[in-house]
Amino acid sequence: MAGITKEQLIDLLNRDLALEYTACVQYTQHQGVLKGAMYQSIQKELVVHAQEELAHATALAAQIDYLGGVPTVEMPAPKTSRDNVEMLEQDLEGENDAISRYIARIRQAEELDLYHLAGQLRNILAVEQEHAMDLGQALGR
Ligand SMILES: [Fe+2]
Ligand SMILES: [Fe+2]
Repeated sequence: MAGITKEQLIDLLNRDLALEYTACVQYTQHQGVLKGAMYQSIQKELVVHAQEELAHATALAAQIDYLGGVPTVEMPAPKTSRDNVEMLEQDLEGENDAISRYIARIRQAEELDLYHLAGQLRNILAVEQEHAMDLGQALGR
């Protein structure tokens, strides 16, 4: 007993949606602020990340509506810095948080027999893992 309810899952998906908006805005701002030839290739990656975060938000909004919820338009403030390394660390922190949230969310979706949602969340998770790898590479980790 004491499993997750559909309403609780909708609330959690809305938190995920809000953080996808934040990630999209944060990457858009960071790619504009990053400086220097050494950061040119990661700067291009951040442009792609921003587009992929928007695609995640789009998919989550559709899923939340399908489940009977109202997709949020609120979001936490993005993290900013004028230091290249600090910006990339902020981005990596966001990705690591997303990875752990989506791992939990896949289990919760399956608990409610929402296998189509679980499949979509798996696709999102795979992209977040690629984002984390790009950032880890750029940070020399
Ligand atoms: Fe995302
Ligand atoms: Fe991401």
